[in-house]
Amino acid sequence: MSLHSIYRDVTKEVNLVDRFLISHIASEEPTIDAAGKQLLKAGGKRIRPAFVLLASKFGEADRDELIRVAASLELVHMASLVHDDVIDDAELRRGKPTVMQYFDEEVALYSGNYLFGEAIRLIGEVGKPELVQVMVHTMREICEGEIEQIYDQYDWEQSIKRYIKRIERKTAILIEASCHLGAIVANCSAADTKALRLFGRDIGLAFQIADDLLDFTANRTELGKPVAEDLRHGHKTLPVFYGAEDAVFYERLSKIESMPTHEEVAPLLSFLQTSGALERTQQTVDHYIHRAIKRLEPLPKSSAKRSLEEVARYVGKRKG
Ligand code: IPE
Ligand code: IPE
Ligand code: MG
Ligand code: MG
Ligand code: MG
Repeated sequence: MSLHSIYRDVTKEVNLVDRFLISHIASEEPTIDAAGKQLLKAGGKRIRPAFVLLASKFGEADRDELIRVAASLELVHMASLVHDDVIDDAELRRGKPTVMQYFDEEVALYSGNYLFGEAIRLIGEVGKPELVQVMVHTMREICEGEIEQIYDQYDWEQSIKRYIKRIERKTAILIEASCHLGAIVANCSAADTKALRLFGRDIGLAFQIADDLLDFTANRTELGKPVAEDLRHGHKTLPVFYGAEDAVFYERLSKIESMPTHEEVAPLLSFLQTSGALERTQQTVDHYIHRAIKRLEPLPKSSAKRSLEEVARYVGKRKG
């Protein structure tokens, strides 16, 4: 099923979020203005706003407040992408040149900061301190997760536990926050809010593991960003953990330090393709998706609940 049809209950609102973003991303500074608009118009799944909107269906939300909160989540996401592409030295994002590539690193740093600032402004204007608290906590965790990842590069001895903790902080927390903030703005009951938050966290973990798998399986054009780069950059992602259970693979892996050539990593990549490591990674994604869907059990049956289950299944099978 396409994302478009899965979003059916919130299509109108997702479009409103997009329109809102176009006007709020504008800056008097022409380069920042162009950088933000370029990334926004390049596409993207808008999955975080969709989670805010779907979670809000379990309560009653003011439409304007809701759009503001959903837009704020997408802005934090976009800012983190702009910065991530600097750290990962990536030249493609959403099928277009990254801000860093099109402009330069300084522009990427400051336009990312601008987007973060705008996100906080928008959510602050709703006038509910709890929204800002959750958002600020989320942003701190993302920063800490990303810094942790820099120190973990080329550390092939690190544990799976460390990997899970890292992806929880750098990715899952923002999807958790999307569901959580959607529930808060709609004044959902404490029990429903908790169920939605935990659903978001498990979806977020599955989302990043699926992303790490796509780095080995996807095609650059379909994905709209570079592939087969994580290993060269020294990121020990789940497929590599599974591959490293093989002694010969581990031996080769432990020799890899600071930006190996494509030729050096080629044997490791081909081992992963045939060893079952990728299939096992998919099973782990499926495990988190299954757990996420179970988290929704206490919520009343509704069209929004069905949509959340469908988005969950989409995340488990996503190709882009
Ligand atoms: C990419 O997020 C960054 C990760 C957390 C893996 P998305 O896959 O949601 O990116 P867009 O918004 O659709 O481009
Ligand atoms: C997710 O990690 C980045 C953030 C959450 C900021 P990746 O570095 O794997 O994301 P992509 O693959 O570049 O989208
Ligand atoms: Mg990264
Ligand atoms: Mg990246
Ligand atoms: Mg990735």
